[in-house]
Amino acid sequence: MPAIVLIGAQWGDEGKGKATDLLGGRIDWVVRYQGGSNAGHTVILPNGEKFALRLLPSGILNPGVRNVIGNGVVVEPGVLLAELAGLEERGIDTSQLMVSADAHLVMPYHVAIDKVTERYLGARKIGTTGKGIGPAYQDKVARIGVRVADVLDEKLLHEKVEAALAFKNQVLTKIYNRKGLDPKQVVDELLAQAEQFGPRIANTKLLLNEALERDEWLLLEGSQGTLLDVDHGTYPFVTSSNPTAGYAATGAGIGPTKIRAVFGILKAYTTRVGSGPFPTELHDDMGEFLRKTGGEQGVVTGRDRRCGWFDAPIARYATRVNGITDFFLTKLDVLTGLEKVPVAVGYTINGKRTDELPATQSEFSSAEPVYEELPGWWEDISEVREFDDLPANARAYVQRLEELSGAQISCVGVGPRQDQTIVRHDVLR
Ligand code: GDP
Ligand code: IMO
Ligand code: MG
Repeated sequence: MPAIVLIGAQWGDEGKGKATDLLGGRIDWVVRYQGGSNAGHTVILPNGEKFALRLLPSGILNPGVRNVIGNGVVVEPGVLLAELAGLEERGIDTSQLMVSADAHLVMPYHVAIDKVTERYLGARKIGTTGKGIGPAYQDKVARIGVRVADVLDEKLLHEKVEAALAFKNQVLTKIYNRKGLDPKQVVDELLAQAEQFGPRIANTKLLLNEALERDEWLLLEGSQGTLLDVDHGTYPFVTSSNPTAGYAATGAGIGPTKIRAVFGILKAYTTRVGSGPFPTELHDDMGEFLRKTGGEQGVVTGRDRRCGWFDAPIARYATRVNGITDFFLTKLDVLTGLEKVPVAVGYTINGKRTDELPATQSEFSSAEPVYEELPGWWEDISEVREFDDLPANARAYVQRLEELSGAQISCVGVGPRQDQTIVRHDVLR
């Protein structure tokens, strides 16, 4: 029966980990469908325990939930094993984690090439996480990738890695002046890792479709966000996969007709990590206020996130390209204490007003936000659990964002802990 997709509506780090964990208790399966260890999803349990997940689905902390790394993900085995070991050390049962046989592996040469390419690009760099994500997806599309199932066929694995390195070593040594990698060493290391993760390799698309036939709930957890999508984002300053909801079915191996709802995670202001246009970005004390109060540092790279005001055309765009049915507005508490809260309702581009995202990147890069100022609130809202108990101005802020964003705001985050959430409508309806 039903699957629900959970996606980031902005540039990532909207609070997808918290939202997934919140629904986790009522879901049977949580599936990551794209991205890899470039993701950093934070979950903070009601008792304050904090977890930062990179490759593992954020359902892993809920006992009884089965977790799947789907075929659309690129998996770095070292990160996978380290993450599993870290959770097991903290007493979390990870036995329910499966990895799709069709998922691609992030190989050491992908990580090396990601890093040197960025250095080579200099001022034009994307600002990637350096985790080899782009090069791994490039090899997938070029049909020279190594898949998870390949570790079960030693001969094939040797052939693939040797063929890949025959070319990649030329690139590393001759273009970038770096050391090449030894194919035997790469394969031996991978086989040693495969001894540990081998038992988790599964035909996950069969398992997920059988689960749907049994009427179980699937939550397809996106990583990154709409504007980092390689098709729909601020290209070329994007990731190399499709975080948007349309890819969720492909990356999990189910049919799109099984998707009942799309839950968009939306921060009450905007952040972005890495290079690229960002119309509402603040370079002043206000930006610093948001960064400090919101704790806006990257989970994976520790980089400071760029911060700015809420951008309504982005939210509306996300509603359209993902078919969002419900929003989870996170981090409303971070805006507490401001006299006025500006919200971008449109842009001026080349002297002309528009309320929608422009068609070209050059127009978006020169977009000047048109702001509407909403009155702020001073009261601490972190313990509020009913929408009607919020200060009137906080309620009005949420209602105005709902109007501008084009889908109902069903949950509101008032603090980092999973339980610091106001639920207005049940998204699993
Ligand atoms: P993700 O990548 O979308 O899962 O988001 P991240 O975990 O990278 O970043 C979101 C950050 O915001 C984390 O530190 C969360 O603990 C925190 N967070 C999530 N929701 C809220 C909220 O409603 N209020 C506050 N103050 N923090 C939140
Ligand atoms: P979560 O799932 C925020 C950004 C990088 C860079 C661009 C490309 O935690 O929201 P990549 O390493 O993917 O080739 O980098 O995408 N980026 C993210 N920004 N949150 C993420 O994930 C991100 N994953 C990648 O900063 O600008
Ligand atoms: Mg994150």
